[in-house]
Amino acid sequence: MSTFSSPLQPTPSPQSAPPSTGVDAASVTDAVAATFANASSALMAELLPLLVRHAHAFVREGKVTHAEWRAGLQFLTDCASITTAERNEFTLLSDILGVSSLVDLQSHQAGATPGSVLGPFHNHDSRWLENGADLIAGQDGERVLFLGRVCDTTGAVVPGASIDFWQNAANRLYPAQDPAQDPHNLRCKMKCDSNGRFAIRTVRPQTYTVPYDGPVGAMLTASNRHCWRPAHFHLIVAAPGHQTLVTELFPHDSEYIDSDAVFGVRKGLTIALASNNDPALGEKYQIAAPFALAEFEFRLPRE
Ligand code: BEZ
Ligand code: FE
Repeated sequence: MSTFSSPLQPTPSPQSAPPSTGVDAASVTDAVAATFANASSALMAELLPLLVRHAHAFVREGKVTHAEWRAGLQFLTDCASITTAERNEFTLLSDILGVSSLVDLQSHQAGATPGSVLGPFHNHDSRWLENGADLIAGQDGERVLFLGRVCDTTGAVVPGASIDFWQNAANRLYPAQDPAQDPHNLRCKMKCDSNGRFAIRTVRPQTYTVPYDGPVGAMLTASNRHCWRPAHFHLIVAAPGHQTLVTELFPHDSEYIDSDAVFGVRKGLTIALASNNDPALGEKYQIAAPFALAEFEFRLPRE
């Protein structure tokens, strides 16, 4: 569904006439902002004038020329050209500009686990696997036992919680980038037990680059910015009556932990992936030693 109503609808008559004397550089911003006063939703009436004011402030402060504005529009056109159902360059742009993260950060609620970027590799059709699922078979890389618990912001168990989990493989690639991988490799959905607990046997995720073969990559390169992300697990955590959490967990000692290309690392989302040789734990979860242990408690706010 589009945010705006169909462009085929007739434009309603303006309820206030534009100034008959035209606009100048000082008055154009108010004139444009005022045209949204009768927008069909209160949100549009609030946000569109704000967008206009900030865009105009950008042009004023940057003393933007015709050539520079044309280049900016060409950049957006290039983003549109490379965007497909599988690859959205605008989302990547939002990510590398830190806008996606700002939206996450300012919607964070006290006591809740922070959210982080979704990224382009989430897949709605992951399979439901049994709690304790083994994703290790056929993988290279260090074995990891990931033990999680889902609770509310007070630490109380939330019944009916589930997770959606995905990560990259030892070759740094997600299945969508690597025809050699099964499309379901290293991802699954899972229901938590009655104590809100889940276990996944997996492998250590790897650092990797955001897609940099498009206009956003060219922007990073031209800005002398790198395109690496620290290693991470992706999770969507859901429970009835609670807000769904889209987040990531980062081994704290991963390279790029302090310079994530998309600013997704947050205090509270780093984990130890500590070597563990406890035979009882290995026995209980049927994972061969040596393995690394990751433990995390996800705290969801009420809806
Ligand atoms: C990722 O984590 O997979 C990702 C996130 C943002 C942009 C590109 C990739
Ligand atoms: Fe990722």
